Amino acid sequence: MEIYKTRQEANQRINDLKKQGKTIGFVPTMGALHEGHLSLIRCSKKDNDITAVSIFVNPTQFNDPRDLERYPRMLDKDIEKLEAEGVDILFAPDEKEMYPEPDTRQFDFGHLDKILEGKHRPGHFNGVAQVVSKLFEIIPATRAYFGKKDYQQYLIIRELVRRYMPDLDIEIIPCPIVREKDGLAMSSRNLLLTPEQRRSAALISQTLFRARELTDLMTVDELKQFVIDTINQSPHLRVEYFEIADAETLLPIESWDETDRKIGLIAVYCGEIRLIDNIEFN
Ligand code: PAJ
Repeated sequence: MEIYKTRQEANQRINDLKKQGKTIGFVPTMGALHEGHLSLIRCSKKDNDITAVSIFVNPTQFNDPRDLERYPRMLDKDIEKLEAEGVDILFAPDEKEMYPEPDTRQFDFGHLDKILEGKHRPGHFNGVAQVVSKLFEIIPATRAYFGKKDYQQYLIIRELVRRYMPDLDIEIIPCPIVREKDGLAMSSRNLLLTPEQRRSAALISQTLFRARELTDLMTVDELKQFVIDTINQSPHLRVEYFEIADAETLLPIESWDETDRKIGLIAVYCGEIRLIDNIEFN
């Protein structure tokens, strides 16, 4: 695997490969890689000649400094996993390389960055847009892969390219959520849970799966209340929000017949650790 630490070298290499007619798949990450990340890499390898991964814990998207401080970092272990998957290129810059000077750009995604995660993590999506727009310039891939685990982020990235990088010919590809055996959505933050918290966290996805079976029996409001109450019964869990929305626009719905594509999105504190998940209802 080729490893690049500078923007210039990574960009040069990608452009050379594109000149040779290679298709490039790109998987941006913040490291502490797990099967969720690896599933994106496997999709990319299937679709493209070359797969490039980035690892960069982006400070501008952390609205909570403690969250940034404790975010797991394990570059050597990550490199081993990427080698084992047969990744071609790793871009792993440091903070100075990505932000030689502060990025003051303000992005606007209409209602999309002001609801759900955007509302509860002010500035988060602006930071994501800052770093992903830089990454897309450095690695102008054919396709970029994002997990539906961060469903709103996927919609924001799609909008980022539409609104702010219309000349960039990059296809944004959403990939399914990968889960642990007990249903918990895989996340680098799961490493920060105590064994007891980890066991309790399974209730989040289990309740979402149960909710999917109850859509014929309950109104939207009743189902929302059911999910919130069931999860809050655990002494380790506190629901921050649960919304049922149109999966295209993320605007909340009030009745099931408002749209064909419905999604339930949740954020839950498990102790100090904030977990998100979602479920598509069809
Ligand atoms: P990170 O949390 O490392 O996630 C990198 C990619 O892996 C994202 O597209 C995320 O949705 C996907 N992913 C994480 N857990 C997953 C799971 N259980 N199943 C499927 N996909 C999963 O998301 C980020 O990093 C950052 O915001 C980033 C886009 C890299 C910008 O800094």
